[in-house]
Amino acid sequence: MDRRALRARKERNKTMRILIRKGRLVSPVGGIGGVMDILAVNGKIVQIGSDIRAEVDQVVDAEGLIVCAGLVDMHVHLREPGFEYKETIETGALAAARGGFASIACMPNTKPVIDTPEGIRFVLEKARAACGVNIWPIGAVSMKQYGGELTDAKALKEAGAVALSDDGVPVQNANLMRDALIRAQIHQIPVLSHCEDATMVDGRAVNEGRISRQLWLEGRPAIAEELMVMRDAMLAEETGGAVHICHVSTARSVDIVRKMKQRGVRITCETCPQYFTLTEDAVLEYGSLARVNPPLRTESDVEGIITGLMDGTIDAIATDHAPHSAEEKAKPLEKAPSGMVGLETALAVTLTELYHSGKMTLVDIIEKMTVNPAAILGLSKGHLGIGADADLTIFDPDEEWVIDPDQFVSKGHNTPFAGRKVKGRVKYTIVNGTIIYQEERKHVV
Ligand code: DOR
Ligand code: ZN
Repeated sequence: MDRRALRARKERNKTMRILIRKGRLVSPVGGIGGVMDILAVNGKIVQIGSDIRAEVDQVVDAEGLIVCAGLVDMHVHLREPGFEYKETIETGALAAARGGFASIACMPNTKPVIDTPEGIRFVLEKARAACGVNIWPIGAVSMKQYGGELTDAKALKEAGAVALSDDGVPVQNANLMRDALIRAQIHQIPVLSHCEDATMVDGRAVNEGRISRQLWLEGRPAIAEELMVMRDAMLAEETGGAVHICHVSTARSVDIVRKMKQRGVRITCETCPQYFTLTEDAVLEYGSLARVNPPLRTESDVEGIITGLMDGTIDAIATDHAPHSAEEKAKPLEKAPSGMVGLETALAVTLTELYHSGKMTLVDIIEKMTVNPAAILGLSKGHLGIGADADLTIFDPDEEWVIDPDQFVSKGHNTPFAGRKVKGRVKYTIVNGTIIYQEERKHVV
């Protein structure tokens, strides 16, 4: 090929045009809806309308499918560096793409802990080599997550951290949390708080209650979470710093957040599919696969979580994707690590539990999986509109399938949802106008 032809080809590749045809657009913002086409050029949405005619490089037929902004998961564990046998940034990104997530934020409880700008840069470097999912690193609140000395919030933010969190190892020291929120306020970076009082939960595997008594185990009481939600809400009120409560699991935590929001406190919160789907009884059936921190709770907690989702108290649905190896999860309940994977099942489980049950609309669910988490993290992602990044998730809300961990692309297969029949299937994940995942019609019922 001569130089001119080569240059022309390079030019063509630079102007990548993709047309998504006849999808049903669902957007919680901007008054966009109905069956429409979307034209994206060079990674940006340039036109939304019916019957767009344009010369393009690629056409996606979305007839009969939902098209929404690329999903955003604000709480993921990618395990790299240090625990690559559980997950790598590359495999976690692939799992995200398969689950319809265009953007994920990853927690810093790796080895070493992501507590310096170098750590943030390491994640960003690896992310660039991954499949194209946007990966936003979260820096630690305290050095090594020991809860003693604060990290440098300003330097972490400058390096690319979108939030600070000691998730997995909650900040026990109220004074340190107070200082963290003061600095977060100065540097405009949210603190994501895993709320559990260590003195009440350490070494314990399940919720304190009927099941812990039945199994003759010491349990993790709901109050261990609720006390810290209250503490952090009050510290947020006092300091003016923004606090986000991770994986809310109890009805009373929802009540506290609701009341504090009414007082004008800068508090937001998320929950995860396991907390509105499963109760503590799941450990009887699934054993270690149902061990997670905070633990699965009671029926009335599940009701409280769903109420919080419906009335807007709970802002976001995140996965807390926490991959562990099969050997680790084969250990007995008391010895196995906590956590479950979620990236490849979250949308389907959520649609099944909340949309197909008639409890929530698609718009409200999508809001909690796109606009809201993006806003909490300050990302210019999660919305459809002219000029927005062409990050799109395309799914069939009605397709039924059975969750089979053997089909996961995540290294982690640890899910209590194995064998569950769900309704809602991701067809395409598009990031910056490029298709990064397309379903191959595997394991359809
Ligand atoms: O169950 C959990 N697993 N909860 C956490 O907060 C941390 C996570 C992990 O890193 O495995
Ligand atoms: Zn987590």
